[in-house]
Amino acid sequence: MTTASIPDSATLQSQVASQTLTQDQLKALVGQAALQYVVPGEIIGVGTGSTVNHFIDALGSIKGHIKGAVSSSVVSTQRLQALGIPVFDCNSVSRIAVYIDGADEIDKHGFMIKGGGAALTREKIVAAQSEKFVCIADESKLVTTLGKFPLPVEVIPMSSQRIISQFQTKGATASLRMKANQPVVTDNGQYILDVTGLQITDPLAFETEVSQWPGVLTVGVFAYQRAHVCLLGTATGVKTLNFDPPV
Ligand code: 5RP
Repeated sequence: MTTASIPDSATLQSQVASQTLTQDQLKALVGQAALQYVVPGEIIGVGTGSTVNHFIDALGSIKGHIKGAVSSSVVSTQRLQALGIPVFDCNSVSRIAVYIDGADEIDKHGFMIKGGGAALTREKIVAAQSEKFVCIADESKLVTTLGKFPLPVEVIPMSSQRIISQFQTKGATASLRMKANQPVVTDNGQYILDVTGLQITDPLAFETEVSQWPGVLTVGVFAYQRAHVCLLGTATGVKTLNFDPPV
């Protein structure tokens, strides 16, 4: 891992001005912008994904000002530690002021689909332990209704076929996430189903229902752990969406 390719904020700002930013540069822009939410002297909650990787790299530049991080995945832990940022276990931390993470989709209430990087269970755990969820995303992630992005669901392997059938009865199609002809195994030793054909008009009700299906470890709808703020990378710069007070 190297930080050599991170564009500095002056470069990013001039690219914003000329509207030439790629999706990855928009992710870098919000990754940098998220530094303003880091509370000096505190432990920061850190998510997973390519947008968060930009945040972690930016965090390296102020690592002397924080106590450390709680991480939502093995891959983020490795990236944080490679930068010399101490990583704490959730159980040893009583309070996390701010959690920074990306999303696959986010709506105008701060409800999200997450888990494209298979880290949804630990992401939900760290989010639940945090006082403020700051979502960082490029503008392609902002949607009217959740469900176009295939919904990740982490399941206990022996339940996967039954859960696939349960989604079928809802008119949706669930398939086992595969890599190199093998099921993807999460950091928790479980499988991921990706579900298409959904229109999630009531994210709280949907999360409540699917979370109760036997064998479901975590559904990738983040309604109870929704974002409080979203830093959205757009062609004209970073837009801040505030979702408080709760809906
Ligand atoms: C990982 C996640 C990510 O936050 C989500 O997939 C967005 O990823 P990226 O920043 O790479 O677009 O939920 O489990």
